[in-house]
Amino acid sequence: MTLACGVDVGGTKIAGGVVDEDGTVLEELRVESPATDSEAIEEAIAGLVAELGSRHEIATVGVGAAGYIDKARAVVMFAPNIAWRNVDLKSELEARVKLPVVVENDANAAAWGEFTYGAGHDVDDLLLVTVGTGVGGGVVLDGALYRGAFGVGAEIGHMRVVPDGILCGCGNHGCFEQYASGSALVREARSAARGGSLLARGLLDRAGGDVDRISGPLITEAARGGDAFAVEQLAHLGKWLGEGIASLTAILDPAVVVIGGGVSEAEDLLLDPIRASFSAQLTGRGHRPALEIRKARLGNRAGMIGAADLSRR
Ligand code: BGC
Ligand code: NA
Ligand code: ZN
Repeated sequence: MTLACGVDVGGTKIAGGVVDEDGTVLEELRVESPATDSEAIEEAIAGLVAELGSRHEIATVGVGAAGYIDKARAVVMFAPNIAWRNVDLKSELEARVKLPVVVENDANAAAWGEFTYGAGHDVDDLLLVTVGTGVGGGVVLDGALYRGAFGVGAEIGHMRVVPDGILCGCGNHGCFEQYASGSALVREARSAARGGSLLARGLLDRAGGDVDRISGPLITEAARGGDAFAVEQLAHLGKWLGEGIASLTAILDPAVVVIGGGVSEAEDLLLDPIRASFSAQLTGRGHRPALEIRKARLGNRAGMIGAADLSRR
């Protein structure tokens, strides 16, 4: 069985894994993402591949990268949350790791992973939404990954949802990811805590009094523990996501929407509000078949597993 290395490069973490043809991860490594330094990212990726390659016979490398990748799956043209500007990531990495490399958008890779091995295995049309540092989208239509004419389709994080809203890393104002990402969740909770809101006191206590230690996982943990403010913050995020997904459904009509990314670990604390606002907002609701909104089954390994599989094709 040939093994592929899948690497998921986000704005916060880089995860690399050795993946077999059944989508099983044999070994996995994670490092912080040096997101502001393009060359340091390349070194970090190459380092992960080299370490995994010292223990496994890797044939190909698939990289899921949080940016706008060209149709040839080589050049990162632009990334809102990483310092990539027109970087030929494929060539840079192939020179370092001496293996064939395929570069794909991280959310596209995750959609492919969930379609091939996970929560979308039983359907031909799916939309995957990753909720993390940014909001990513991956679309599988009729069993094929949709890339668009130039490779940069499905950038759902950059739909404008608020006219002249919050400034986004992409340079526009009011993008979906400024309201529906893990970063938005953390930004709102921190701002309440910083402003001295009594509502955020529970979160602040959990963070040892340090506002900057309020993180996505900490909010989820607090919500699980019954912290009303944390529950409400996740519900608010879910409302944004559900409404966005309803708009996307008007265009794509998927059979299943898969929610992935770090914040999906909040499970029904996030998914139930997504389902509720989706159902309340979907055009033609009550007069059309209901799609299912599911949690990513491969969890935060979806991108790695999908990228590995794409590198084999
Ligand atoms: C980027 C996408 C990426 C997503 C999730 C967005 O900000 O534009 O390319 O898929 O974040 O990482
Ligand atoms: Na995408
Ligand atoms: Zn944007």
